[in-house]
Amino acid sequence: MQGSKNAVLPMMAAAVLSEEPCVIENCPDITDVHAMAEVIQETGAGAVLEGHRLILSGRDVHSGQIEGKKAGEIRASVLLLGALLARTGQACMDYPGGCSIGSRPVNYHLQAFRQMGAEVSEEENCIRCVSRDRLHGASIKLPFPSVGATENILLAAVRADGTTWIQNAAREPEIVEFCGFLKKMGAGIEGEGTSHIVIQGRKKLRGITWKLGTDRIAFLTYAMMVAGCGGDCFFSLGETHPSKEVSILAKLGCELNFEKQGVRVLQKGRPKSIANICTGPYPGFPTDGQSLIMAVLTKSSGISMIEEGVFDNRFRMIHQLHKMGANIDYVSNHACITGVTKLHGADVSADDLRSGAGLLIAGAMADGETIVTKEHFIQRGYEDVVEKMRQISLQASYGAT
Ligand code: UD1
Repeated sequence: MQGSKNAVLPMMAAAVLSEEPCVIENCPDITDVHAMAEVIQETGAGAVLEGHRLILSGRDVHSGQIEGKKAGEIRASVLLLGALLARTGQACMDYPGGCSIGSRPVNYHLQAFRQMGAEVSEEENCIRCVSRDRLHGASIKLPFPSVGATENILLAAVRADGTTWIQNAAREPEIVEFCGFLKKMGAGIEGEGTSHIVIQGRKKLRGITWKLGTDRIAFLTYAMMVAGCGGDCFFSLGETHPSKEVSILAKLGCELNFEKQGVRVLQKGRPKSIANICTGPYPGFPTDGQSLIMAVLTKSSGISMIEEGVFDNRFRMIHQLHKMGANIDYVSNHACITGVTKLHGADVSADDLRSGAGLLIAGAMADGETIVTKEHFIQRGYEDVVEKMRQISLQASYGAT
């Protein structure tokens, strides 16, 4: 199973914090990693992906200025603000992009930098952060446990002067893994995985080698194919234990057998309906899994409800599912899915990364041919998705992915 996209992207930003090289093993070969590599290269840093080995070098970082338009294509580019501020005392770049799943402001990030002593100005096409002296520690309370803001504060704080406290920090497993990476580099961090993280700033960080954990959302995507289509498949997960993701599979009626290095997912009949799913910050159900489960529930044996609690524009996929015969009503961020016995193939189009993955699941569950266009969204986060789907469908009884 591929390494975690949302863990590797902040690690790439962290590589500019050290003069020594960092190597990340099990890195997914996906377009978001290539785009982030292009962005960090603009600072003078090195980023080369050799197979699944990502080699990063912060030795020649000379600038906090990112001129190109690439930063505006991915969300994670915003993490370079914290990293470059800490390393060079200035960061200037285009507004970050990423999937349009709702309004994605960066006000929490910028407010935190101000509290740490940076001057921040927002211009029409650019965010500029400058700190004449070394950033200083601060007590920062996030209004919402934002993943990106927590990561950005960590990046700025690990090399700041003094102690930084983050209250209402994000608790996602990717944050915990990212903190493990920073700690191996020599950062002083405590409390990751809780809402209260304490960071002791250091003058220097060292280069390291890190083996990236499994991508829990990619696992969930392929497991949802089994939950929706029926079958029996073993998923190799290494050290990762995606307990939230596994528990939702059980609610869909899957039988789960845990083995040493992973989990076997067995689905015999139609998926079961689920009365109430609400996405939320960890340990809530992940918003990135919402499109995936919605696709599966279209053929469930009853009525299911989904409330999207994180982003305000994540239901566009419903129009595509309607073309395939799904029965879904929605108002604002609440959707009601009445399971049907059959979906039929259709020409559909991805609106973002996870809706694209949801449509792949629906296509696998449907009778006839489904054509999913705008597949570039899917390639942002999934490596060899077609080949993996083929493995699951051909070898449902014995396959390992
Ligand atoms: C990250 C993930 C994304 C996931 C999301 C929530 C990466 C690269 N992306 O995105 O896959 O869906 O976490 O788990 O890791 N907000 C503000 N102001 C801010 C920051 C956030 O209002 O400054 C709001 C957002 O509009 C959103 C909520 O907070 O409603 C959560 O956003 P956040 O956790 O920051 O998501 P990202 O880091 O963008």
